[in-house]
Amino acid sequence: MGDDVSKLYDPRHIAEYFDSYGEREWDRLVSTAYDRVNFEMHVRVLARHVHAGDRVLEAGAGAGRFTIELARLGASLTVADISPEQVRLNEANTRAAGAADGVEAWAVADACDLSRYPAGSFDAAIGFGGLLSYALDRRDDALEELLRVTKPGGPVLLSVIALLGGYRLFLPAVLAMAAKGAAEALATLRVTGDQVTRDVEPGGHFCHMFRWTEFEAFLHDHRCEVAEARGANFASVQNATALEGVWESAPEQWKYLLDLEEDFTAEPGAIDSATHMIAVVRRD
Ligand SMILES: C[S@@+](CC[C@H](N)C(=O)[O-])C[C@H]1O[C@@H](n2cnc3c(N)ncnc32)[C@H](O)[C@@H]1O
Repeated sequence: MGDDVSKLYDPRHIAEYFDSYGEREWDRLVSTAYDRVNFEMHVRVLARHVHAGDRVLEAGAGAGRFTIELARLGASLTVADISPEQVRLNEANTRAAGAADGVEAWAVADACDLSRYPAGSFDAAIGFGGLLSYALDRRDDALEELLRVTKPGGPVLLSVIALLGGYRLFLPAVLAMAAKGAAEALATLRVTGDQVTRDVEPGGHFCHMFRWTEFEAFLHDHRCEVAEARGANFASVQNATALEGVWESAPEQWKYLLDLEEDFTAEPGAIDSATHMIAVVRRD
C-alpha cells in the first residue's frame, strides 16, 4: 500500500459514496438471482450464530436487509453505519418491516473507531457486505475493533468482497477497462487487491478485494479461530438469467439450489469463486 495517500482509507469518501448510493443499497440484495442467493447464504450464517436475546452490533449495516433478519431472530441490535443516509434508510426500512423493537440504537459510526463502545459490550458483532473491504488500509483496525467490542469467545461475522469472484462476475467490464488502457489500475487490482482509482474515477467504488489465502492469513494475524468459512454465490453467478424467478415459481428447486450452494461454497476451491467470502471468527 506504500505511502500513496490516494490509496488510503478516506472515511468521508465512503460516507459520501453510500449516502449517494441511497435506496439502491436496499434494492441490491434482491436485484438478481445471485443477489438473492447471496442474501440467503448470509441469513443462514446469521441463524446459526445469533440467538434470541443476544446483544449484537451490526456495523456497516446499510439499508437494513440483515437488520430485519436479525431482529426476527430475536437479537437486540445496535445498528451502526458510516453513512448518515444509510442509517436513515435502515431505520425507515426496519420500522416499515415492523422490526424496530429489535433495535436498541441507530448510530452514525466508523467501524475503524468504535471507542464509544466498551470492550465486551456485545454477544456478537457483524460486518457483512464488505465492511473490511471498504476499510482499505484500516481493515486491521476495523477487525480489531469488532473483536474488542465482542465478549470473549463471542462470534464476529464477516463478509468481504472476493477478488476472483468479482473478476468472474465483472469479466466484460474488466475487458472493457483493459481496452480503454486502464492497464495500471488493473495491474494494481490484480497484485494488491485494491480498487482505488481516485485519479481516473474520483467518486468510485473503492475497496480491497481479498483472495481466500490472504483473507485467511489476515484473520490468523488477528489471533482468530475461524469457526466457519464459505462463499456467497457460486454457480448462481453464471446462471442468473436461468434462475430468475425460481424463488417464486419453484420454491422447492430454489431451496435445493440454496442447499447446494451452501454445501459447495464451504469448499476452499469455491470460496474464492464467490462474490463474497463469509467468515465467522472467534478470538483465540
Ligand atoms: C455494501 S453495503 C453492505 C450493507 C449490509 N451490511 C449488507 O451486507 O447488505 C456496505 C455498508 O458499509 C458501510 N460502511 C463502509 N465502511 C464503513 C465503516 N468504516 N464503518 C461503518 N460503516 C461502513 C457503508 O456505508 C454501507 O452502508
